[in-house]
Amino acid sequence: MAKIDYTNWSQKDLITEIERLKKRKKYGLVWEDKPENVVEQCRQELPILEEVPDKEIKTDPDKPVNLLIEGDNYHALSVLNYTHKSKVDVIYIDPPYNTGNKSWKYNNRYVDREDAFKHSKFMSFLSNRIRLAKSLLSMKGIIICAIDDYEEQNVRHLFDDVFGEENRLGTIVVIHNPGGRQDDKFFATAHEYMLVYAKNSQYAKVGYLDVSEKKLAQFKYEDEWGKYKLREFRRSGANSRPEDRPNLWYPIYIDPKSLELTIKASKRLIELLPIDSQGIKRVWRWNSGTFMEQKEKYIEAKKNKDGWFLYVKERLDDHQGQKPKTVWNEPYYSSAVGTSDMKNILGKEFNGNKIFDFPKSKFLIRDIISITSSKNSLILDFFAGSGTSGQSVLELNKKDGGQRAFILCTNNEDNNGDGIKIATDICYPRIKNTITGYITPNNVKIGGIGGNLKYFRTAFVPAEPTDNNKTKLTEKATEMLCIREDTFELVINEEQFKIFKGKEHHTGIIFNQLAIPDVKKVIAKIDSPFSVYVFSLGDDTFEDEFADIGNKVTLSPIPEAILRVYRRIFK
Ligand SMILES: C[S@@+](CC[C@H](N)C(=O)[O-])C[C@H]1O[C@@H](n2cnc3c(N)ncnc32)[C@H](O)[C@@H]1O
Repeated sequence: MAKIDYTNWSQKDLITEIERLKKRKKYGLVWEDKPENVVEQCRQELPILEEVPDKEIKTDPDKPVNLLIEGDNYHALSVLNYTHKSKVDVIYIDPPYNTGNKSWKYNNRYVDREDAFKHSKFMSFLSNRIRLAKSLLSMKGIIICAIDDYEEQNVRHLFDDVFGEENRLGTIVVIHNPGGRQDDKFFATAHEYMLVYAKNSQYAKVGYLDVSEKKLAQFKYEDEWGKYKLREFRRSGANSRPEDRPNLWYPIYIDPKSLELTIKASKRLIELLPIDSQGIKRVWRWNSGTFMEQKEKYIEAKKNKDGWFLYVKERLDDHQGQKPKTVWNEPYYSSAVGTSDMKNILGKEFNGNKIFDFPKSKFLIRDIISITSSKNSLILDFFAGSGTSGQSVLELNKKDGGQRAFILCTNNEDNNGDGIKIATDICYPRIKNTITGYITPNNVKIGGIGGNLKYFRTAFVPAEPTDNNKTKLTEKATEMLCIREDTFELVINEEQFKIFKGKEHHTGIIFNQLAIPDVKKVIAKIDSPFSVYVFSLGDDTFEDEFADIGNKVTLSPIPEAILRVYRRIFK
């Protein structure tokens, strides 16, 4: 709504306006928007990414390149708005829970339990980031936000507002502390939440969870078609009476010797009807047609002292898994599992140290990612902390042969005051160890999964759109362009232009228009599509110069293509 200028209003009009506002019905989320330094900073300086080359991990060229970005996630998300608009399939985030326990800074200060604006600050903080994150999601994209009781209701309103209530796919209760927090005054908290939203629920898909070990043990019978469990063929409960489903009430006949079943009456056969132990008429689960078609593989007859009974064989092979429920309570979802796993993977050097509070269980993140992603999805976690989600993605790929890639972002805070920094000392080594292998504190050697990682830090160039600054941004944009194109192998490195190779195409970056003919000669020799970025102080894409090879080349002006995005998000 447009802001009203009250400066010249009479006292009488102002009083009438106040009365009107007081009477107006209100519904929704209101908070005092608190300006944030990292947001304000972007008016003066534009965020970019700079690679830290000696942190690169590269063990397997056939696997995707994963990214770890160290810096404030507001800046990282701004850059990703240029490099990854609509390209991310799953966002998993676990923001600080705002419990006042020195885990979260706003404008460089910890937000205290007593801070009167703690909720407003949190909402400003999260809202700024969620809005940037939304445009990164692909059409079928899904976002999951972990949160607990302190902010659940606010976060849910915020997500309803940003994504739309109609795109809320579910709210999952996760039992992360089965014993309950005993220092709680009234109720011992045993759970937290995962809020799950889609960019557009019409296109989103949520898969099934693997059948748990406990469930698996229920498939205790086996025949030539494989494992199965039994369920009565007679219905019970709602809609189980003949008057509800008349076509499911019919006699079935059994030959007591051969156990042959049919719906054709015969004197030598025994008639079976779906009548329960109290003599109440019920119905079968299937109509007679389906029964005759499926009986061979799916119906079993058994006799006990009360007579003959029919069962459906529920086959393990037919199970797509379990439809995820709104309560998740596997023991391996607990915070304790998360902590011990993190310590293990950080290996001998961190033996027993208190290094990071409350990492998530890798199994929890593995499961939520497995049902919300496909095997080639790109997954983003911009509150990555100790990097649990990166490890989970790598392990999930190993388990199901997937090629999912991840982008992690975390700041480099030392939240425990012990000199250990979250990005460089925990998240990075954890991912490195997962990829390359490690020795546990108990001296067990664990092999690496293999994979690739590039490490970036956020950095800045001056925002004022002078020619000088545009040149600077272009010089610094190479890494962002490689990330955007997913082309990291430098194949030609000239002063005036660079060519990078990816899996399916090449990227050319031209810093001086005079180099266009040389670049065209390179393009002519390589049989692959090209994305070409040409430095221009305006938004000239030099289409005429590339007209003869236009079908092979996609042109963009830099830095204008980047500035356009920044003008939109920092307006
Ligand atoms: C609750 S923890 C996430 C834990 C993570 N899920 C794990 O399993 O390790 C939140 C993390 O976000 C980081 N963080 C907080 N504010 C941030 C910001 N503005 N930019 C980047 N990271 C931030 C904190 O350092 C903290 O490590």
